Amino acid sequence: MKTIDELLSEGVDGKRVFVRADLNVPLADGVITDDGRIRAVLPTVKALADAGAKVVVASHLGRPKGAPDPAFSLRPAAERLGELLGAPVAFAEDTVGPAARGVVDGLQPGRVAVVENLRFNPGETSKDDAERGAFADRLAELADVYVGDGFGAVHRKHASVYDLPARLPHYAGHLIATEVGVLKKLTEDVRRPYVVVLGGAKVSDKLAVIDQLLGKADRLLIGGGMAYTFLKARGYEVGRSLLQEDQLPAVKEYIERAEKTGVELVLPVDTMVASGFPDLRTKAPAHPTAVSVDAIPADQEGLDIGPETRKLYASKLADAATVFWNGPMGVFEHPDFAEGTKAVAQALADSGGFTVVGGGDSAAAVRTLGFDESAFGHISTGGGASLEYLEGKTLPGLAALED
Ligand code: 3PG
Repeated sequence: MKTIDELLSEGVDGKRVFVRADLNVPLADGVITDDGRIRAVLPTVKALADAGAKVVVASHLGRPKGAPDPAFSLRPAAERLGELLGAPVAFAEDTVGPAARGVVDGLQPGRVAVVENLRFNPGETSKDDAERGAFADRLAELADVYVGDGFGAVHRKHASVYDLPARLPHYAGHLIATEVGVLKKLTEDVRRPYVVVLGGAKVSDKLAVIDQLLGKADRLLIGGGMAYTFLKARGYEVGRSLLQEDQLPAVKEYIERAEKTGVELVLPVDTMVASGFPDLRTKAPAHPTAVSVDAIPADQEGLDIGPETRKLYASKLADAATVFWNGPMGVFEHPDFAEGTKAVAQALADSGGFTVVGGGDSAAAVRTLGFDESAFGHISTGGGASLEYLEGKTLPGLAALED
């Protein structure tokens, strides 16, 4: 994989460089609530601009349906990029149409433009190779060189991620190089004990990675909504907690395999329950209580790990040489159910080992709960991407940068 350093040494002065970033940031009423992904691509954008490139940044945001939708405009992300760069950023109101061509044609060396959401075009995400290819042809007209730096999207076989690099000289940006370097440390020659913390709502999203980790990790701590399917598989009643009945056979098999292979599979011993899902808008008090996992009332829902589990998980993380954490322990967006996620984040922050926070919700949680990013070894920008990497899958966006 050629990296941006090689591109910079070859020289980019006056060249149009297409940077496929992942600016898919969370927005509330049009306001960015976590700009981590924008900050993560700054080193690449800055390096190219400083070297005199005409930098054309493109990304998806959300999941619009292949047509323009103002709710998913990249404009707020472009504005934030300009603030962080401390330089004006031009914005094109389409992706490959007259606005984009006009903005790119007018771009001076050393300047940056952002084009509108790639997913406003059906060709971006099409399953049809020809349709994706046709869109990639149009994107290719905007640039002389391609830099892949949207790590969060490398698991997507999309036009800008997979087809476009085949049409232009291509390089990996600083973010992709860093993310891949970190994930390599987790898959090749990992320092032990290697402890993995998995949370999040659905166990079905994590099955493949659990399957892989049962052969790699020394200890697996389970939290979040998915823990209740594990608890049910162990024979506990979980009341109205999130339960994926159809996943019970798979989860039972994992529990047995963990016992056979000597992987320590740790489940919550207590949980915070309430009468229903809390209101995340008003954040009205939910009056939760802590109950042991063998006493979850039938009319209550578990929404976070309990205080004993927080202590247990902190102790299980204390001697780790390597930690990978993906997925919150509870509904951390509500203050009544944030303690479990905070406790895990704190245990990682206190750890003397190499700690990696998988992207998505856990990365946002670390920042919104006020942790200093420097307390962690690495905070990934890719949730699905880092999980699929650990599953051992070939990621289209990385494979495309290899050849
Ligand atoms: C993410 O948020 O995980 C990436 O930006 C990919 O988004 P997607 O799941 O909508 O493809």
